[in-house]
Amino acid sequence: MLEIKSLSKSYNSGKQVFPVLKNVNVDIKEKDFVMIMGESGSGKSTFLNCISTLDTPSSGQVCFNNKDMVKASFSQIQSFRMNDVSFVFQENVMIDTLTMFENVMMASLEHHNDVKQQAKELMVSMRVDHVMDKFPSQVSTGERQRCAIARALMNKPAILFADEPTAALNPMFAKEVMDIFTTLNEQGQTIVMVTHSLKIASYGNRFLLLQDGTFSVDECLSGTRHENHERLLELARDIL
Ligand SMILES: Nc1ncnc2c1ncn2[C@@H]1O[C@H](COP(=O)(O)OP(=O)(O)OP(=O)(O)O)[C@@H](O)[C@H]1O
Ligand SMILES: [Mg+2]
Repeated sequence: MLEIKSLSKSYNSGKQVFPVLKNVNVDIKEKDFVMIMGESGSGKSTFLNCISTLDTPSSGQVCFNNKDMVKASFSQIQSFRMNDVSFVFQENVMIDTLTMFENVMMASLEHHNDVKQQAKELMVSMRVDHVMDKFPSQVSTGERQRCAIARALMNKPAILFADEPTAALNPMFAKEVMDIFTTLNEQGQTIVMVTHSLKIASYGNRFLLLQDGTFSVDECLSGTRHENHERLLELARDIL
């Protein structure tokens, strides 16, 4: 589905070049629920941004259904962002003067009845239908995050990217978000997520550990959450 080939990314500061990603190869498959971990500054967000067209790699290929998005035209990239992928971040921008329902609707350029119905249904399934008419300043951080997920699902993305979506949430809200992601993945949603927490990573079905600019671990997680957590404690001991 998303084949990342020889991906490198460096940042320049004056005459100095800082390599962040070095020749990374990963093949993300349909229904993967990928958990990416690595030390702070190891390049997790850079990786996510490069494979989702939010940033441009220094070299390499990011092939979505065999089409290299690095070399794609502006309109192809626009279409990829509109139709094929969505994002959830730690803090999601909401427009303060719009209701939560209108913020979810914002994801669609069209506002006909079918779209309204879809937004409502997503808000019901994310259990935020009770805050539809509230404004962002009037909802809890957990409700806000669930609205952001509803918004991200409006375009029925092939891949949902999430960069530390639970980092700003208390453990109860974080669990709610992870239960939602688990259900979505069970329904076939491909998810690529960054987290700092082994407990959160144990919800995934594939684990990638970013170290020294490349993935030192790429392993399937097929056990129970408890078994996955035990395995992750071994795999990620370098960064604990
Ligand atoms: N626009 C930029 N210009 C220069 N350096 C950058 C830029 N963005 C990121 N970096 C550097 O690239 C490295 C990787 O950053 P990145 O944000 O991808 O790390 P991360 O693994 O997501 O960290 P964290 O866990 O703290 O979010 C860091 O050393 C960072 O300082
Ligand atoms: Mg980051």
